[in-house]
Amino acid sequence: MLQNIDKILEEARQFKAGTREEIEQFRIKYLGKKGVVTDLFQNFKSVPPDQKKEVGQRINQLKQLISEKIEILTSAVSQESDQQELKDLTLPGPPLQPGARHPISIVRNQIIEIFTRLGFTISEGPEIEDDWHVFSSLNFPPEHPARDMQDTFFIEKDPDVLLRTHTSSVQVRVMEKEQPPIRTISPGRVFRNEAISARAHCIFHQVEGLYIDENVSFADLKQTLLYFAREMFGKEVEIRLRPSYFPFTEPSAEMDISCQICGGKGCNVCKYSGWLEILGCGMVDPNVLEFNNIDSKKYTGFAFGMGIERVAMLKYQVKDLRLYFENDIRFLEQFKAAY
Ligand code: PHE
Repeated sequence: MLQNIDKILEEARQFKAGTREEIEQFRIKYLGKKGVVTDLFQNFKSVPPDQKKEVGQRINQLKQLISEKIEILTSAVSQESDQQELKDLTLPGPPLQPGARHPISIVRNQIIEIFTRLGFTISEGPEIEDDWHVFSSLNFPPEHPARDMQDTFFIEKDPDVLLRTHTSSVQVRVMEKEQPPIRTISPGRVFRNEAISARAHCIFHQVEGLYIDENVSFADLKQTLLYFAREMFGKEVEIRLRPSYFPFTEPSAEMDISCQICGGKGCNVCKYSGWLEILGCGMVDPNVLEFNNIDSKKYTGFAFGMGIERVAMLKYQVKDLRLYFENDIRFLEQFKAAY
């Protein structure tokens, strides 16, 4: 019996296989139901008791060796076939789906492009701000109800730390560092504690603009915004300014554009008014200039601010603002643009 085991062991050691089928046959021959090793186990009964221990160990060793050999041979064969697949390195790779820019990026870049053409620079600032830059230096007195116009996220530990509700805070930071002429826009993300709906979100994006120099007038503001509207929405668009209120501008206005869908005739998008609201603007309040050490006797300025989501909604006629944040590829891949 022991000699027989030695013979089988030697035979198995010699075995070489090139294919999966050969390995499978090897397995069946030795470990299969009627295989050689299985047979040995069955004959184990007839081994004399004094040899049982040794023979048993040897059969087990044999079985283990064969199992290991099968494993090694199988992994060698599969590695080889992987390499074969890689053999032709000149084959073209799998096709890559080209991505598209997010509609908010497209519109932001377009707004930036229009205003840089007019000589505006781009400024950026922190999203986590303090009361001074978001409110106080912009002429929001403490406890003034105008603060409620922008529902603010504060942190519990320190009421002076907040998430900026508009990027006007960036313009304050520019005024702190520079003297007029100042002509800058500040694109960025802003935060307001609003319930999320089709028309509002607690995170959105703005571009605000500031122009301060000698003799800057309301006519300059109007002409700048008309130019912007025509570049953004097309030459035939009309604008309308309605009186409004912001603490940091005096006078203040809100700008509407003629409805792009009905051409001003009235439809359900413009609620049959023919106009769509797009931004807030006004002449910088002299208090704001003085708070930032700019001589309000010498200089005047205008400012404006718009929500990028809002502009994108009007441009692409998207009815639900939440779509911009869901990142559903079926929505996003519809916006292919040069910007
Ligand atoms: N900061 C205002 C807002 O976020 C927009 C605005 C900017 C209005 C500049 C007037 C002038 O609502």
